[in-house]
Amino acid sequence: MKTTVTANDYMALEDRYGAHNYHPMPVVLNRGEGVFVWDIDGKRYYDFLSAYSAVNQGHCHPRIVQTLIDQAQVLTLTSRAFYNDALGEYEQYITKLLGYDKVLPMNTGVEGGETAIKLARKWAYTKKGIAENQAKVVFVEGNFWGRTLAAISASTDPSSYKGFGPYMPGYLIVPYNDLVALEKTFQADPTIAAFMVEPIQGEAGVVVPHEGYLQGVRRLCDQYNVLFIADEVQTGLARTGKMLCCDHENVKPDILILGKALSGGVLPVSAVLANDEVMLCIKPGEHGSTYGGNPLACRVAMAALSVLVDEKLAENSERLGKILRDELRAIPTQLIKTVRGKGLLNAIVIDCGEDDPMAWDFCLALMKNGLLAKPTHGNKIRFAPPLVITEEQLYDCIGIIRKTIAEFEATL
Ligand SMILES: Cc1ncc(COP(=O)(O)O)c(C=O)c1O
Repeated sequence: MKTTVTANDYMALEDRYGAHNYHPMPVVLNRGEGVFVWDIDGKRYYDFLSAYSAVNQGHCHPRIVQTLIDQAQVLTLTSRAFYNDALGEYEQYITKLLGYDKVLPMNTGVEGGETAIKLARKWAYTKKGIAENQAKVVFVEGNFWGRTLAAISASTDPSSYKGFGPYMPGYLIVPYNDLVALEKTFQADPTIAAFMVEPIQGEAGVVVPHEGYLQGVRRLCDQYNVLFIADEVQTGLARTGKMLCCDHENVKPDILILGKALSGGVLPVSAVLANDEVMLCIKPGEHGSTYGGNPLACRVAMAALSVLVDEKLAENSERLGKILRDELRAIPTQLIKTVRGKGLLNAIVIDCGEDDPMAWDFCLALMKNGLLAKPTHGNKIRFAPPLVITEEQLYDCIGIIRKTIAEFEATL
């Protein structure tokens, strides 16, 4: 007798045996290709989340997957106790591509953030002359850089930090997009090692700072001898219409953190880039990771980066992002309060309170019509499809969004 496993069965299984640390949309996926994912019943959806911008190159990109398979059959992990024949090549490739002296390979985005802060502290003690254990790092309100204790200690969102104290000392918080407040903080405290910031705040709901903010940050960091750490885990790698979001303002951070799309979504691969003055502050034995820099990750990352370059995905993101925002703004609706973003990192803000379930319900309606998106912080919905999306596919998605808005408003 044939038994059919339903979506409800899969969801119940996760609910029964998995920790309840996520609240997924009720859809069970089992296949992805390019901009599409399919659920277990064979229904196709446009993916407008791209695994939080990890799948910039599209699901199961053939060249990335082939690289993964080829390398997996030869050598996957050596640890950094030994050299391997992929790491140096990858290090040369990524540093030349992005214009830094050196790279430190890690796995997840949050490890990249931790690494950047360790580097900044070490630099502060060995180069800036700050007294041992006194170095501070400045963050902004609404930041998000992951879930470790160091990361949540920087968070201003109670759902991230509440109940997990005590917290990491040595942090200061300033408002986002406020150069006056930043300068006051730098002026008041000579023990500041670094300022860490997302060029666009992703998790906070795609909050775009004013033009000139990043240049202002660069200028203040230079003036006060503070390291500028750019967390481009979400904004980097062509997502916002340039290889790096900082490129929009021709600004070069002292420390650059990348993750997510660095593997095109097939493995956790992150990287921290800096010049020798900073990077060489960390000596052998002072930092590392068993999997960081493994040959499988190195080959996959080279393939993932070369896909971004060869397929001109930054250019596609820039062009189609403009169309998407223009078209969304042209929809006659009371439902959407704001449309904002850069490249294909966009969000709409639903005209309701942050605790109102309306944005969630609207995402359910989009899902029914074949487009997957998820609210962040209550009433904001990110629209961030894989960057391989074509203009025709984008217009198809805009059609789905228009239709869903009309249907949804009719039920209100
Ligand atoms: C800007 C930013 N930094 C860091 C992270 C953490 O990355 P990971 O979840 O791979 O640890 C995220 C994840 O969403 C992010 O958006």
